[in-house]
Amino acid sequence: MKVEDLFSVSGLATVVTGGASGIGRACAEAMADNGARVTLLDADKDALAEALAAMQSRGGEVRGAVVDVTDRAALRRAFDEAAQHYGRLDVVFANAGMSGGPGFLNQDRTRNAARALEEIDDKLIDRLIEVNYKSVLTTIQASARHMKKSGGGSIVVTSTISTFRTEIFVGLPYVVSKAGLKQLVRQSAVELAAYNIRVNAMAPGPFVTNIGGGRLQDPATQEFFAQFSPMRRMGRPDDIQGLALFLASSASSYITGEQIVIDGGTTLGAAD
Ligand SMILES: NC(=O)c1ccc[n+]([C@@H]2O[C@H](COP(=O)([O-])OP(=O)(O)OC[C@H]3O[C@@H](n4cnc5c(N)ncnc54)[C@H](O)[C@@H]3O)[C@@H](O)[C@H]2O)c1
Repeated sequence: MKVEDLFSVSGLATVVTGGASGIGRACAEAMADNGARVTLLDADKDALAEALAAMQSRGGEVRGAVVDVTDRAALRRAFDEAAQHYGRLDVVFANAGMSGGPGFLNQDRTRNAARALEEIDDKLIDRLIEVNYKSVLTTIQASARHMKKSGGGSIVVTSTISTFRTEIFVGLPYVVSKAGLKQLVRQSAVELAAYNIRVNAMAPGPFVTNIGGGRLQDPATQEFFAQFSPMRRMGRPDDIQGLALFLASSASSYITGEQIVIDGGTTLGAAD
């Protein structure tokens, strides 16, 4: 078996939610640059147009639609349209997500009174659960419906290391909204395995993206988070591409229900 065949994604009909920025965009680029046919779904019209133009300029077969993933009817419609356009559905990155703001400690480890759990706004909690959890469930439902007809597929959820560890610098609504994804992936995987549909998650540590209004773009913030990584740096969107191709391709053909950590060793513990 040649590595280029094992990891081939050529021609695969792919949908990426939150594909206009950061981790989702990197997944979309890895797929499109290697011959997959990719639909980006994103709520940010301008970022979507820019991402599509960039991928098309490199010869990618990409298309996109402006969709808020919390609008279940619109999300299902977008999946129906993509599956109809391609005549099948092979790979889905259930990636769209948002930050819930900083945690209960400031970076100097003093308490941030405004971020105490009893102060967190109900609307923010509801929105995070809608975007980070319920939309992924809807995405898996929409994917399964079409992948069953295609004879199988791979669903890749972007979860986070916060699904299994506590956080001090990341807000509570984010942690709880993501927590259910680990079990959602396992439960979906066990039901869908008989249909040759695999469901896995990528669990990143801190990555430099536009999440949280771009606060991770700040060099001082990057330096702060880098100190917790044995590799002494935050993740970059490009770092996700190998894992994305692995989970999308037949290289991972016997892996399902797994959550693969990608964090430069951050969850291993402190190093020098
Ligand atoms: N950056 C990190 O440190 C990090 C760590 C772990 C997990 N994640 C997860 O990675 C995923 C991608 O985030 P990112 O860091 O690349 O952020 P990002 O902000 O750069 O990209 C997220 C994309 O999702 C889109 N999006 C957000 N809400 C949406 C909605 N309701 N409907 C449609 N599109 C929507 C945004 O417009 C944006 O294009 C998220 O699920 C996030 O929780 C990020």
